[in-house]
Amino acid sequence: MVNIFKLIKKYQVIAVLGYQAGDEGKGKYIELLTPYCDIVARSGGGHNAGHTVELDTGEVFDFHLIPSGIIHDDKTFLMGPGMVIDPRSLVREINKLEEKNIRWNKLYISGDAVVITPDLVFLDRTKEKLLGKEKIGTTGLGIGDAYATLVNRNAIRINDLRNKDVFKEKLENRINDTIKMYINPNRENEKIWREIIEIMMKKDLKDFYDKRNFFNIDNMVDDYYDKSEKFKDNIRNVSQILNKAYKDKKRILFEGSQGVWLSVLHGTTRYTTSCSVGTGWLAEGAGFPAQLVDKVYGVIRCPIMNRVGNGPFPSEFGGKRSEEYCMEEGGFAHTKDKELKEYPDYIKLINSKDPFLRGIANRLKSGNFGTTTKRPRRVGRIDTVALKWAIELYGPDLLVTHLDDCNDTEEIEICTGYKYMGNRVENNGRIWEKGDIVDHFVIDSGFLYNCKPNIETMPGWKQDLAGIKNYNDFPPEARNLLKRVEELTNANINAVSFGSKRSDMVLR
Ligand code: IMP
Repeated sequence: MVNIFKLIKKYQVIAVLGYQAGDEGKGKYIELLTPYCDIVARSGGGHNAGHTVELDTGEVFDFHLIPSGIIHDDKTFLMGPGMVIDPRSLVREINKLEEKNIRWNKLYISGDAVVITPDLVFLDRTKEKLLGKEKIGTTGLGIGDAYATLVNRNAIRINDLRNKDVFKEKLENRINDTIKMYINPNRENEKIWREIIEIMMKKDLKDFYDKRNFFNIDNMVDDYYDKSEKFKDNIRNVSQILNKAYKDKKRILFEGSQGVWLSVLHGTTRYTTSCSVGTGWLAEGAGFPAQLVDKVYGVIRCPIMNRVGNGPFPSEFGGKRSEEYCMEEGGFAHTKDKELKEYPDYIKLINSKDPFLRGIANRLKSGNFGTTTKRPRRVGRIDTVALKWAIELYGPDLLVTHLDDCNDTEEIEICTGYKYMGNRVENNGRIWEKGDIVDHFVIDSGFLYNCKPNIETMPGWKQDLAGIKNYNDFPPEARNLLKRVEELTNANINAVSFGSKRSDMVLR
């Protein structure tokens, strides 16, 4: 058994963040660290996140909203005010826990967290539809529109669900604005109107449609109130719990969601989620002083990283072709089953000369499909320019996942920089001309879409890593690769995982 305590040392407050585009495998480390902590807190995002945890028994758990350490049900789990919560999704997850006999009596939900109501889910999907090719490729779960209610100062909080009259009044006021902005202006356009109605006819929205008023507010209020009955006894002031726990010398683990590329502030604007993903947000979003976080670990996939949804990804295998392929029909044209049918002999393509095919082979080999939406994840080489950016923002301590993705790869590729291929542009006081080498990340998507990756190749290893117990037992090619990533980014790799089981990992 790996002595994971080495990662904890004397730290009382630890944060685990995603340093790439989400889906880095944070869940595995969170689950391993949880037994040594007293409290696990999530404070950003909503059910757009997806954390998969696989136990050595082969049992697999998917979490979206609830902190992924919950299988250790003797701990305290918090969902902070910085989260956006759809009570329907929360209840679904709680029911799943109950089916598996996992207790959730010590799961506390902030009464101040923002509620995702059906009108916000509708807005997310409608805006994406109207954007056509320019869409962001959101998860369609209302995440961005829920965060927008905070900024617009018309958010509905979990506490409001328990006070039906207040809830109804707030919802009515907000929905009036939606009707004015999105419903009324589009009624005249038959094509758009048909699409809008279609959105409301989907399974999770149709109960809230009303032919005359468009939204059935009473149904929303009643349904959400009923859902909140399930967790009403677990609604608390999360900040108070955390601050008391800190004073009582309890160990606190902040569980990050999404990753730096998706940060609304520092990510690849505008193809991001709608909250920040860093240490500051994690603390702020839980109502806890950020300066008390002792250690930040950033999780990365190495050497193959991924991205779900639209947005720039300079090191993607197959570039634009791959992005278009993965996002066809909103990402649902090539789900796992379909892609497997198309490429049954994918393993033979692992070392193909065509990077697009290599991408497909890698995705199928590592099962790289979204936990939340099941869409194919776009895959590419580890991008050390972007990684340097994450390290600049949140620190150099890395936890690596998915090293085994390249077990049979002859040549490993790393993206060490970009070549700017666009027109002259000014960015942060610097002038960029066609042909310039980019060695510092630029968050502007237009800029990144004009970047071609500089690729460095290193020899791979033809060995299964299963069973390795020490870092020094990795094949020399694997150690060289990790060392090179450290050199290029000035990082410290603290642990490396090479499989889904708990035992498939070593500490440095
Ligand atoms: P939203 O968060 O649903 O608004 O989606 C915005 C973008 O973030 C889309 O490209 C999503 O695919 C992506 N995204 C959101 N959450 C996650 C996550 O947990 N992992 C990976 N991608 C995510």
